[in-house]
Amino acid sequence: MDFQCVDRRTALKVAGLTCAGATVAGCATYGAQDNEPAEPVAPVTVDPNAEADPAEAADALASIDDIPVGGGEVFASEQVVVTQPASGTFQAFSAVCTHEGCIVANVSDGTINCSCHGSRFNLDGSVANGPAASALPPRQISIAGRSIILG
Ligand code: FES
Repeated sequence: MDFQCVDRRTALKVAGLTCAGATVAGCATYGAQDNEPAEPVAPVTVDPNAEADPAEAADALASIDDIPVGGGEVFASEQVVVTQPASGTFQAFSAVCTHEGCIVANVSDGTINCSCHGSRFNLDGSVANGPAASALPPRQISIAGRSIILG
């Protein structure tokens, strides 16, 4: 193996630059106060009596029947949470908590809940209770028949 030695002054300069970079990144993450409801992805509305199309089911994230009105469902493997704030209106967000990156655990009592440190998000993705300071980023969904499809 071939190791190169650096003098103490060079090592301190590199360490200082590394710490400065970490501080700037930390400010960008934790200093942000972006608690506006997620935009610009508009909610998707659907006819609650729409017919199911078996051909669409293969690509479906879920059926609209899987998402309770006034609640939602977390799809951890896809890192997405889908809510239905009002009957026939669906929204989707990243399930990655904006606090420290845990996948949110569930949707209950009208909020999207992260079990890591207790953050809660409203069904429109905005912060209901910290420590998270930023809304969940929106994800695009579409609805075909009774199927919810990512993208
Ligand atoms: S990672 Fe979600 S509350 Fe901390």
